[in-house]
Amino acid sequence: MNKHSADATTAEEALAIQETLDSGMATEVAMKNTLLTPRFYTTDFDELDAIDVSHIRSEWDPLIERMLSDPNKGHFKKNDDWDQVDWDNMEPQLKKEFIDFLISSCTAEFSGCVLYKEMKRRGSNKEITQLFQLMARDEARHAGFINDALREAGVAVNLGFLTQKKKYTYFRPKFIYYATYLSEKIGYARYITIFRHLQENPQHRFHPIFKWFEEWCNDEFAHGEAFALLMKADPKLTKGINVWWIKFFLTAVYATMYIRDHQRPAFHAALGVDPDWYAHEVFTKTSKLTKQIFPITLDIENPRWKRGLASIQKANEDLADAKSKGKKFAQLTSSIRAGMAFIMLFTVPSKKHSVPSVTSLEPAY
Ligand SMILES: [Fe+2]
Ligand SMILES: [Fe+2]
Repeated sequence: MNKHSADATTAEEALAIQETLDSGMATEVAMKNTLLTPRFYTTDFDELDAIDVSHIRSEWDPLIERMLSDPNKGHFKKNDDWDQVDWDNMEPQLKKEFIDFLISSCTAEFSGCVLYKEMKRRGSNKEITQLFQLMARDEARHAGFINDALREAGVAVNLGFLTQKKKYTYFRPKFIYYATYLSEKIGYARYITIFRHLQENPQHRFHPIFKWFEEWCNDEFAHGEAFALLMKADPKLTKGINVWWIKFFLTAVYATMYIRDHQRPAFHAALGVDPDWYAHEVFTKTSKLTKQIFPITLDIENPRWKRGLASIQKANEDLADAKSKGKKFAQLTSSIRAGMAFIMLFTVPSKKHSVPSVTSLEPAY
């Protein structure tokens, strides 16, 4: 039998296996670049390569050791738990939203893979390249597994094509830390919240992929731990003016998630999840986790925060509507409203707290 991407030990191997499956398939949705869709990033790899982990070794070594032990090798492939999915009879709106969810998740996983793989390729710092190779391995498996699910619906993302053709956005290394750390931790919070909800309410598990979310989110948790330690290695990243950048990224990441999830009402109804409840759950968990390294959290209980989220979501809905109808003036006014709502969210006073001396956490949800 041919080898599966779940058993691959490097990102390159996993991608080569996946690529033989999807030659020539369309990947239009994954190619889209808007403020809300997952992007591909590039950065100053030399600066990343210069990180010295020697003074955080007591936390670094156990994390790398656990990742090297590879607890999820072989996990990300279909087995007897993979129930048959009746794609043909799935309610059309649910099918559309679910496929959109899978494609955007696959693109996000793959975006991590591309960035981590590139860092491993360009770097010469043994510690850093080893970490990035391990993370690229995990993300390649995740993206490959989502693609396995998509293929059953007759679509798949051509990962090789994406690598070459999708636009890359340059981010300074510190922005990569904030954005990637947050996306790993919020990814963990999202996956574990859905997994626990479906454990309690199995009648809402309309697709087998959700059964894989527990081990999956543990990988994301470990990646988040790695970025927390990288930031700890350079304390100025979480001090002074950079605290404003942290607030900016927290606000942008939370707001994007809120808007995206509210674009998929049928998907959340099928899961039996209220998107407002889900957002609050995920923000609460993510905020608790980020206290390990960030000196502030957003005040998600503030009434202005809740109003701001509702405004930015409505403005985006109106913007999409105006775009689809070609209404230029309405596009302009809804863009301005979205910008104002973002400022409203950003200016909610944040909560300050002291950061613990030991950074590392265990997944506890
Ligand atoms: Fe992942
Ligand atoms: Fe990850």
